[in-house]
Amino acid sequence: MKKLKILVVFDSAGPPPKDQDFEEEFKKEDWATEASVIRTLKKSGYDTDMIGVYDDIRTVIDRIQESKPDLVFNLTENFHGMSIYEKNLPALFELMQVPYTGCSADGLAICKNKAMSKKILNYHRIKVPGFQVFPRDSKRKPRKRLRFPVIVKPLTEEASIGIAQGSFVTDEQGLIDRVKFIHDSMCMHAIAEEYIDGRELYVSVLGNRRLKVLPAREMKFSRVPEEDPKIATYKAKWDKKYREKWGIRNGFPDKLPHGVQEKISKISKKAYRALNLSGYARFDIRLTGGNDIYIIEANANPALAPKEDFAMAASKAGISYESLVKIIANLSLKTDYLG
Ligand SMILES: Nc1ncnc2c1ncn2[C@@H]1O[C@H](COP(=O)(O)OP(=O)(O)O)[C@@H](O)[C@H]1O
Ligand SMILES: [Mg+2]
Repeated sequence: MKKLKILVVFDSAGPPPKDQDFEEEFKKEDWATEASVIRTLKKSGYDTDMIGVYDDIRTVIDRIQESKPDLVFNLTENFHGMSIYEKNLPALFELMQVPYTGCSADGLAICKNKAMSKKILNYHRIKVPGFQVFPRDSKRKPRKRLRFPVIVKPLTEEASIGIAQGSFVTDEQGLIDRVKFIHDSMCMHAIAEEYIDGRELYVSVLGNRRLKVLPAREMKFSRVPEEDPKIATYKAKWDKKYREKWGIRNGFPDKLPHGVQEKISKISKKAYRALNLSGYARFDIRLTGGNDIYIIEANANPALAPKEDFAMAASKAGISYESLVKIIANLSLKTDYLG
């Protein structure tokens, strides 16, 4: 049988080197997804090629036309360093009629906007926090029905960029100040969401039509004082020293209350379909003291490094890293690979 030809497309931090040599970058922890996926595809015997992209779309068009891959393994999250363009390279792959892994351009557009995705989930009666959008170019006043405390975030960012303990605000003045910070310092629209107190769970889903929900992961805040809000801030996610200081750790939950995993599975599948997701995705979920399940965010194309929550959850479900990469590649070619 002919080997599948796979072109891995990923973000280059700036204009890529002419020879497309990323050997030094791939040694760094930040590049673990790219390095691991490429290494695994090669090891699995695929005819694997790669290209880093920054802002020159012609290089991708030329490469796809020259090498005619069977599929693109899409690891891009930005274009020209801007995450709002995440959907546009997949849209280009669609125009070029080359299959690609992960989520469609449509699904990426929906999930990138934290308000749009919540409106759709709400339509499907999936619990989401109440929210209000504060566009950059308008002097909108906080609505009376928005209940404090709220958490103020950029409308279309990722990886907790712009999220700190200061994002948690308890009154109208605090809200106005934090919105101003996002408008002026980050040059982005803002969203204020009602704060949902509860356990922080990450639920990974794999598939197209037939879906597999993987065991939940949890971010635990063991040394954060009882009365403080437990938020996956930028530091809580990425700063090793900060994580150690406050006892923040990602792991498998000790024990979920009876019936909760089943309820999470049902809601996650429903949300995945409602948001037009495909391939693989991860939901950020809050489980309240009363066992209500709220979806905080849908992450289309979550990070695939072996130590990240998605691959850890797959491994717990008996799916090795190599199998996971193969399943994701194959899902781009078939509508129902897991079935
Ligand atoms: N409405 C909310 N209620 C409680 N916690 C929230 C809420 N919104 C965000 N958070 C906290 O902030 C983190 C980051 O928010 P999220 O919307 O997932 O942004 P990002 O896209 O940057 O990951 C969440 O994982 C959660 O810990
Ligand atoms: Mg998130």
